Amino acid sequence: MNRKIIVLDTTLRDGEQVPGAKLNVNQKVEFAQQLKRLRVDMIEAGFPASSEGDFQAVQEIARSVGDAVSITALARAVKGDIDAVYNSIKLAQNPFIHIVLGTSNIHVEKKFNRSKDAVMQQGVDAVKYAKTLLPHVQYSTEDASRSEFEYLWKTIEAVVKAGATIINVPDTVGYAVPEEFGDLIRRINDRLKNLNPDVILSVHCHNDLGMATANTLSAIKNGAEKVECTINGLGERAGNTSLEEVVMGLKVRENFYQASTGIKTPELLRTSRLLTYLTGLDVQVNKAITGENAFAHSSGIHQDGLLKDKQVYEIIEPEEVGAESMELILTARSGRHAFKNAVEKMGFEIGDAEDFEVLFDKFLKLADSKKEVYDHDVFYLVTNHRMMDV
Ligand code: KIV
Ligand code: ZN
Repeated sequence: MNRKIIVLDTTLRDGEQVPGAKLNVNQKVEFAQQLKRLRVDMIEAGFPASSEGDFQAVQEIARSVGDAVSITALARAVKGDIDAVYNSIKLAQNPFIHIVLGTSNIHVEKKFNRSKDAVMQQGVDAVKYAKTLLPHVQYSTEDASRSEFEYLWKTIEAVVKAGATIINVPDTVGYAVPEEFGDLIRRINDRLKNLNPDVILSVHCHNDLGMATANTLSAIKNGAEKVECTINGLGERAGNTSLEEVVMGLKVRENFYQASTGIKTPELLRTSRLLTYLTGLDVQVNKAITGENAFAHSSGIHQDGLLKDKQVYEIIEPEEVGAESMELILTARSGRHAFKNAVEKMGFEIGDAEDFEVLFDKFLKLADSKKEVYDHDVFYLVTNHRMMDV
C-alpha cells in the first residue's frame, strides 16, 4: 500500500526570498490559484510580519483558496510574528501557524547568544501561544541537519508536548547528504511515533550541494510524511527542493518508494512557466522535468531508438507533466531515421532511396553549418530539392 505524501509549496515564501523574485499581491494570488489547480496540499503563502505588503498578500491568498488547500505562513518564535500569521490566515478554511527556531549550536550560540534551555523554552512558549489561536501548529527546528541529535530530539519532544502537530526538519543550508539525512529522519521518526503517532513528520531541504531532491526522497524512504518544495526549485541561494522533481521521482519510482502524492502532474509545466513569466527568472534549459530540453533528444543513436520505441530513451511521457510530446532536435548528429521522420511529419513523401540519400546529404551539409536545423529549414531544403528535380 502506498503512503500518501503531503506536499507543501513554499514558492511564495522561501521561493520569493530570491533577489528579483518579488511579486505583487495580484500575481501571488494568481500563482496560488495555479498551485490549487496543481493540487498541492498546503501553501506557505508568505512571512506576514516582514511587511504590510506580505501581510496583505497572505490575507488575499487565504481568502481565495477555499477548503481544498491548507494555508500557512511563517513566524519566528515571538508573539508579534505569531499574531501577524494568525491575523493574515484566519479567514482560510484550513489554516495553521508555522513557527521556526534554530536548534544547531551555531544558531543557539552565535545567532541567539543564549543557553540551549532558554532557546528551547522560547519554542515551547511560542507553540503554547499559537495553540491558543489555532489547533494546528508546525514547528521547524531550523538548521536541524547541523544540530546535536539529543538536543534536537529534546526540542522536538518538548514542542510536541506543548501541542505542535507537525514537526518540520530543515536542512537549512543544504549541508546534508542523502544517507545521513535519511538516517536522521529515521531516528526522529522512530521516537516520534512512540511519543505521538498523530504528529506529522516533515522535511524542508535546500540545494546548496545540489542534493535537495535526493535528500527529500531519502527522507521519504525513511518515514517523512510531508515535504516542503518550491516550483523550479526557486529559493534562497541555490534554492529549495524542486517540487516537480520530487513528485515525478515518486511517480516514476513508485514501486521503490511505495509512496505517492496527489499532485495533478499535467499541470506541472504550466505552473513552472507561470512562475517564470511572473518572476522573470528563467529555468536552466537542462533542468529536470521543466527545462526546455527535458524532453528533447538530439543524438542520432537516441533518436533512432526513440522512433523504434519511445521507452528506449524515455522514462517519463512528456504529456504526463504537461509538455506536448517528445522533441527530436535535428542537428549534425541526427541520423537518417530522425530526418525522414521530420520530412514525413511535414507532409512530404520520401522519394526513392537514391533520391533520399541526396536529400540527406544536403541536410548534413546544412546541419554542419548550424547548431540546430529547424522545421522551416527542412521545409526549404525539401521544396528546394524538389524544384531542382523538375
Ligand atoms: O530553510 C529553513 O530552515 C526554512 C525554515 C523556515 C523552515 O526556510
Ligand atoms: Zn528554507
